Amino acid sequence: MKIFLDTANIDDIDYYKDFIDGVTTNPSILSKYDVKNHKNTILKICRLVRSHVSVEVVSDTAEDMLKEGRELAKLHNQICVKLPCTYDGLRVCKILSEEGIATNVTLCFSATQAVLAAKCGATYISPFIGRLDDVGQDGLSLIDDICEIYRQQGFETNVLAASVRNSYHVTQAIMSGVDAITMSPKILKSCLEHNLTNVGLQLFAEDWKNRKK
Ligand code: E4P
Repeated sequence: MKIFLDTANIDDIDYYKDFIDGVTTNPSILSKYDVKNHKNTILKICRLVRSHVSVEVVSDTAEDMLKEGRELAKLHNQICVKLPCTYDGLRVCKILSEEGIATNVTLCFSATQAVLAAKCGATYISPFIGRLDDVGQDGLSLIDDICEIYRQQGFETNVLAASVRNSYHVTQAIMSGVDAITMSPKILKSCLEHNLTNVGLQLFAEDWKNRKK
């Protein structure tokens, strides 16, 4: 199972590089960092991680998305072209996949969308847990449904749990059998730390300091 960091913050990627395989970005994330030279930021990220770095197209039409996707893929062999789960996005996904370019179909909110992305050869499908929870639906059941359908049907597309809001989402998505999960540095920190670890460490240190000499 792969862990991706959902950020374009180079310092955070460097800090957590031993725990992560790759990185996912989106236009909102990239717009926060080095906007004038975002290609440079993407290349720096590729050098820090060993697996895919997802970068999303921002074009509106299939023709422009295709051109943009091919250009992004040329930047570095770790780039995974992120495409929206729309009619145009999926058509472009099929073409890029046939050309051997890695693809990540994003903004997936239903199992049927995930099936169609798999039919178009997507490398990853990114169902959004948190944004579904925000509108009163169950993001984790969607993850469970997609994992089960992909298993039953033998689809090779990797399920990449996205829009993760807490460590409970992380555990449950992994238990459903996702192939990958992406999370912000803040969520990764919360997965790593536990108050009882800190309290226990402090107690051990105090007992050691006060040991009989
Ligand atoms: C996934 O690749 C997206 O970048 C991300 O997980 C979106 O999460 P959000 O709903 O917290 O913006």
